Amino acid sequence: MSKLTNMLTKGVNIYNPRNVLFYEEAGGFTALKKAAAANPQDIIAEIKKAKLLGRGGAAYPAGSKWDHLFHISETPKYIVCNADEGEPGTFKDRLIMEDLPLKLLEGIIIAGVVFRAKAGYIYVRGEYRKLQKRLLAAIRNVHDAGYLGENIAGTGFDFDIHVISGAGAYVCGENSALLNSTEGKVGRPRIKPPHLAEVGLFLNPTLVNNVETFANIPLIVNMGGDAFLQAGHPDSGGSKLVCISGHCRNRGVYEIPLGSVTLRDIIYDPELGGGFTGGRKLKFFHIGGQSGAIGGPGQLDTVYSYTDLKKAGLSVGSGAVVVYDESVSVIEYLKSVTEFFVSESCGKCVPCREGNRQLLKIMREFSDVAANHKDRLPAYAQSVKPVMQRLIQTMTDASFCGLGQTAAAALNSAAKLFADEFEGVSR
Ligand SMILES: Cc1cc2nc3c(=O)[nH]c(=O)nc-3n(C[C@H](O)[C@H](O)[C@H](O)COP(=O)(O)O)c2cc1C
Ligand code: SF4
Repeated sequence: MSKLTNMLTKGVNIYNPRNVLFYEEAGGFTALKKAAAANPQDIIAEIKKAKLLGRGGAAYPAGSKWDHLFHISETPKYIVCNADEGEPGTFKDRLIMEDLPLKLLEGIIIAGVVFRAKAGYIYVRGEYRKLQKRLLAAIRNVHDAGYLGENIAGTGFDFDIHVISGAGAYVCGENSALLNSTEGKVGRPRIKPPHLAEVGLFLNPTLVNNVETFANIPLIVNMGGDAFLQAGHPDSGGSKLVCISGHCRNRGVYEIPLGSVTLRDIIYDPELGGGFTGGRKLKFFHIGGQSGAIGGPGQLDTVYSYTDLKKAGLSVGSGAVVVYDESVSVIEYLKSVTEFFVSESCGKCVPCREGNRQLLKIMREFSDVAANHKDRLPAYAQSVKPVMQRLIQTMTDASFCGLGQTAAAALNSAAKLFADEFEGVSR
């Protein structure tokens, strides 16, 4: 039986994904019409029943977020779609924007209708230049078809969607930094609370959701929250787009139901990762993005669901699964992960700015000792262990935003999993 599903990706590979007529023929915009005629609270109730967890990384329940914003009386309200997709190894929002842009726009417009919002914004990763143009073309088509602009779908309600280009900073994917950047300010995180539902874009109540989260909304409105939940895991409905990359055979974006596919399936199933070439073996995988943990062969039977991965010390995160074979040194790999965080730390707070630099210094020394003075590795590992632990603890507890709080997750998990490599016992 196939491990894949296409509940979200149905319609990928159609001739012109930006053509509204084709989309309508396939049932497009029926959810918007349904939502426009419904009580907004009923739509939110379905999203809650669906147990749709935010697909941007933090896994916050979308229904609760929508409910919170709904109960805020201040206006105007804004809808913001996080399409920054700066997470290394993550390229699933690109697939949605490229191949299912009308589904994404429908999800954002439904949010606009539910909250009677003033406008919608899609903040797109700066490097996705071509995609930004295609998205603008899709928005124009939807506008011409009467689903955007004045009196959308005959509701008497006006709504438009604007595309904002990111400027290449990973931290701008953090929702408050993203809003600052959208406002034309430096893309640095804001202090929370206040919650963005209360004080968001231009200091107004704002909904921020990920591309994949929005794209699931028409599905939930059409099929109902219960059916969506049943198609996934009891704690989190629906499917997940996973991005498989690294050393396995079949790299790409795959849609799998939540709760019935294991990590072994993701890496080895011929329909998914397809295993390794030339008889090579798995050494480790980095899951959920750069800020996710590292896992090893002993965790392959973990089911891919938010709950099961969490129990195993792993996370769904952004949907990235980067696979490495035995040719890779864990220490060299972690050095490159730490380099990434040093270069992406915005510098606003000390634990992240200095903590990452100190960790990188340690990782460079580790790499040098492991390569050139192997006999000294056990002593070096012992001497540096308490410093590393203190740094990791401080960064996790005291960093201002999620970037610094999770920057050492890979290092922390790998140091336990590969204690032998770190301590020079065997390699
Ligand atoms: C450093 C950092 C980078 C992030 N990058 C992204 C991103 O590229 N895309 C995204 O959707 N969420 C990203 N997030 C998570 C967002 O802050 C936020 O949780 C998300 O946009 C909310 O949408 P969701 O609930 O639909 O997932 C990032 C968070 C942090 C701390
Ligand atoms: S944790 Fe890092 S990225 Fe976040 S505010 Fe502090 S320095 Fe900036």
